[in-house]
Amino acid sequence: MKNLFNLLLKTLSAMCFTMFCLSAHAEVDADGAKDFAKQNNCFRCHGVDKDKDGPAFTKSAAKFKADPKGEEKLLHHLTSGEKAKFPDGHEEDHMILKSDDQSKIKNLVDWILSL
Ligand code: HEC
Repeated sequence: MKNLFNLLLKTLSAMCFTMFCLSAHAEVDADGAKDFAKQNNCFRCHGVDKDKDGPAFTKSAAKFKADPKGEEKLLHHLTSGEKAKFPDGHEEDHMILKSDDQSKIKNLVDWILSL
């Protein structure tokens, strides 16, 4: 009986977690994300749906949306300065996005994933 109760509790908390994730995604502030990307010159190298030196954000969305770790990977990409390959073949460290407000970075990543 106790096991059954535990199982129920686990199921319920998993459901809450899923609902929390879904609602977190619904709350993307697209205008805020675009402003933040503009301030940081992201659009110099990325179009929303057009490749520039870097891939279009819609392409990155398609690549990472299906990945359960997509958000984590993009957060890492934007904050760690991973090597980025440019169309002419040279590589340089990707710009590191900095903000006192981590939620702005997360909102930008969630916006990209929502495209
Ligand atoms: C100087 C040009 C430049 C700037 C500025 C720049 N990027 Fe990039 N970015 C690139 C290039 C080039 C790649 C391709 C990396 C690769 O495929 O190796 C890339 C890759 C990416 C990717 C895909 C990562 C992946 O693993 O597929 C995302 C998402 C991204 N950039 C977001 C941003 C955001 C958000 C900003 C603004 C904070 C930004 N970039 C600023 C050049 C730039």
